Amino acid sequence: MDFLHCFFCIFWITNLLASINQYHIAVCSASDFPNPINVTKHFSFPDFSFTNNPRLVHDVKLLGSAKFSNQKGALQIPNESQDTDIRHQAGRGIYSFPIRLLDPNTKTPASFETTFSFQFSNSTINQTDYGGSGLTFIIVPDEFTVGRSGPWLGMLNDACENDYKAVAIEFDTRMNPEFGDPNDNHVGINLGTIVSTKTINVSGVGVSLKDGFVHHAWITYDGPNKRLDIRLGLPNQEVYPSKPIFSESIDLFPYLNEYMFVGFSASTGNHTQIHNILSWNFTSTSQAFLRFPSTETCQGKILLQNSNTEEEPAKKSSKDKTPHSFLIFVAVVALVLAALIAFYFINKYRRNAAKSKNSLDTEIRRPTPPNKPRRFSFSEFSSATRSFSEIELLGGDSRGEYYRGKLSNGSNVAVKRFSAQFLNTHGSDRKRLLKEIKTICQARHPNLLPVKGWCQDNNEILVAYEFVHNGSLDKWLFGAGVLPWTRRFKVIKDVADGLNFLHTKQLAHKNLKCSSVFLDVSFRAVLGDFGFVLLGAESKQFESIVCHGADVFEFGVLVLEVIAGRRRVEGEIEELKAEEKNLLDFAWNLHETNEKARLVDRRMGALINLEHANRVLEIGLLCTLNENKGRPSMEEVVGFLLNMDKPIPKLPATRPVALFPYNSANTGLCNTYSCTFK
Ligand SMILES: *[C@@H]1O[C@H](CO)[C@@H](O)[C@H](O)[C@H]1NC(C)=O
Ligand SMILES: *[C@@H]1O[C@H](CO)[C@@H](O)[C@H](O)[C@H]1NC(C)=O
Ligand SMILES: *[C@@H]1O[C@H](CO)[C@@H](O)[C@H](O)[C@H]1NC(C)=O
Ligand SMILES: *[C@@H]1O[C@H](CO)[C@@H](O)[C@H](O)[C@H]1NC(C)=O
Ligand SMILES: *[C@@H]1O[C@H](CO)[C@@H](O)[C@H](O)[C@H]1NC(C)=O
Ligand SMILES: *[C@@H]1O[C@H](CO)[C@@H](O)[C@H](O)[C@H]1NC(C)=O
Ligand SMILES: *[C@@H]1O[C@H](CO)[C@@H](O)[C@H](O)[C@H]1NC(C)=O
Repeated sequence: MDFLHCFFCIFWITNLLASINQYHIAVCSASDFPNPINVTKHFSFPDFSFTNNPRLVHDVKLLGSAKFSNQKGALQIPNESQDTDIRHQAGRGIYSFPIRLLDPNTKTPASFETTFSFQFSNSTINQTDYGGSGLTFIIVPDEFTVGRSGPWLGMLNDACENDYKAVAIEFDTRMNPEFGDPNDNHVGINLGTIVSTKTINVSGVGVSLKDGFVHHAWITYDGPNKRLDIRLGLPNQEVYPSKPIFSESIDLFPYLNEYMFVGFSASTGNHTQIHNILSWNFTSTSQAFLRFPSTETCQGKILLQNSNTEEEPAKKSSKDKTPHSFLIFVAVVALVLAALIAFYFINKYRRNAAKSKNSLDTEIRRPTPPNKPRRFSFSEFSSATRSFSEIELLGGDSRGEYYRGKLSNGSNVAVKRFSAQFLNTHGSDRKRLLKEIKTICQARHPNLLPVKGWCQDNNEILVAYEFVHNGSLDKWLFGAGVLPWTRRFKVIKDVADGLNFLHTKQLAHKNLKCSSVFLDVSFRAVLGDFGFVLLGAESKQFESIVCHGADVFEFGVLVLEVIAGRRRVEGEIEELKAEEKNLLDFAWNLHETNEKARLVDRRMGALINLEHANRVLEIGLLCTLNENKGRPSMEEVVGFLLNMDKPIPKLPATRPVALFPYNSANTGLCNTYSCTFK
């Protein structure tokens, strides 16, 4: 009789639960996938005179040195007046109301279209040397920040505003080699930094920005397709140019908040000009999903997510007074009953088979969090990277290739597919290689790139890392733009912190170089592309000593690369003398003759703290000393970098005869140039 009772009980509860679930599923799907709504914004300033725009001062906010010239009908930066010096000024004119430029649910940027006309002219009041820094169209997170003057174009203070999301299209009329400018007449695309991601020499299309004529610009961004299109008209002509000066795909998502402000910024330095904006149109469209402010759908979700794992949150939510509290109450009662019954059966079961209970229990209690690194199947990675298509290829080396990919849960990843050659030489012991990968998966630190998962299938091993938007350090160091000193110094500190963390956890990176250091949106450096190589060493302890030493050595060489803005071995550059081509050699030679300052990347111009650079250079050289001849540990290096007044050990006056990344040269880890270094 007892059993029959229970059976009906379960039958009834199951039915009840099913009906509740059905109800909630219906509610959820209705609110999760409603028809999208277009959020559009349009405004237009045919000119900037008060006569034509009585609401001008409400609609456009002036920051820093800027004004409206009623007579010219222009927004002018800087504010020229009798009693002020217009040199070294920065100003902004911002549309006063925030604009929705991102749908945070789908992470899709809005589409927008903007047209404006501008003219750079001499000040009529007090002209100094002609040629101000330039004008930018900006998308910024707030309406109260003014960037720095001079080469910063009023856009950013590059040194400290690391988390300042911003997008700018610059119309630059001064050449600042320290920021990688090609000439004094270019358009640049700046994503979160004053160093342009792309520059376009507009002399090539017959435009001279500072010729005093009126110029028209059209900027179009297609959010869903992530395509940016820039057109520049011929002087004094409003004709829509048939050919864009720039049309490429650019993902603005990392640089946008849901709501942003749009407008213009400009600046002057020792040279000045008045930046006039004469007219401005702007239209944006983003998609949004209707949100109902009702609580039932939210609680339905909580119930759905937790009903098969835990009871606690369901109980908590039952406290809220809502029209559906009755349903939730019923559900809770049902759950409690179900739990009791389960408990009864498990108890009974345990009496019969005590051993198998454990595994059942842990399975029920510990569902895997969705973001925990896990094993993927080859086909999952294959579909994430469109069958490892050429288009998704990010780069590669002898160890394997990197592909951009999108996992089924929507997260963007970079998938490393190890080459057969690498696996044959280093991965013969698959078990240990996978163990290495899983250990690195568990390491969490702000300066380590999170591993999203791995795959072992057939003869392949793949590792997926979180996708980093600004790419690898080598692209920034050895590419067209020039990273300022403050950024370089921070990169060195970040790398040191990440390595030190690994070493304290008895782990090692084993593949440190500029292409395995990545920069996130705020230019924080994170270590990725771990080596995972096996040494085949006798003991774990010996192995970690060797690997830590090698990491410190490679860190030293990386420091030299960052400061010099040059690769460790330069093959192509003709003007370099033979003895300058090997950076480590060259650095020690310069140390001997006390000319280390010559190594510092001259493209950084005057914006460098030479004293700091010299000290960091010495720390880098210390790291390349042999292990028993004074090579510091990463912990010591972090200490040297943290306190720039702390004295550091003296470098030997003359270069060591030979330098090795680790003491015993035949461990089989020789995969970089350091082994061939004489
Ligand atoms: C929203 O805009 C898109 C593209 O501009 C259009 O195809 C769609 O019909 C619009 N939807 C609504 C509801 O207006
Ligand atoms: C421009 O500068 C003048 C003189 O300093 C000042 O009186 C005026 O308020 C400024 N205009 C704006 C819009 O800030
Ligand atoms: C013109 O600029 C100079 C600086 O170059 C400044 O000293 C002077 O006061 C300015 N004169 C007027 C009339 O604003
Ligand atoms: C820019 O374009 C002009 C005209 O085509 C050319 O003379 C000049 O060398 C270019 N400058 C750079 C830096 O490429
Ligand atoms: C500004 O003045 C300089 C000389 O003072 C002249 O060479 C230049 O053409 C002028 N620019 C404009 C746009 O009037
Ligand atoms: C501006 O001029 C001053 C004095 O003439 C000079 O010291 C300074 O280096 C110049 N700044 C730049 C960025 O050229
Ligand atoms: C700005 O928009 C208005 C209509 O809203 C249009 O008449 C005008 O031609 C546009 N101006 C530009 C420069 O595109």
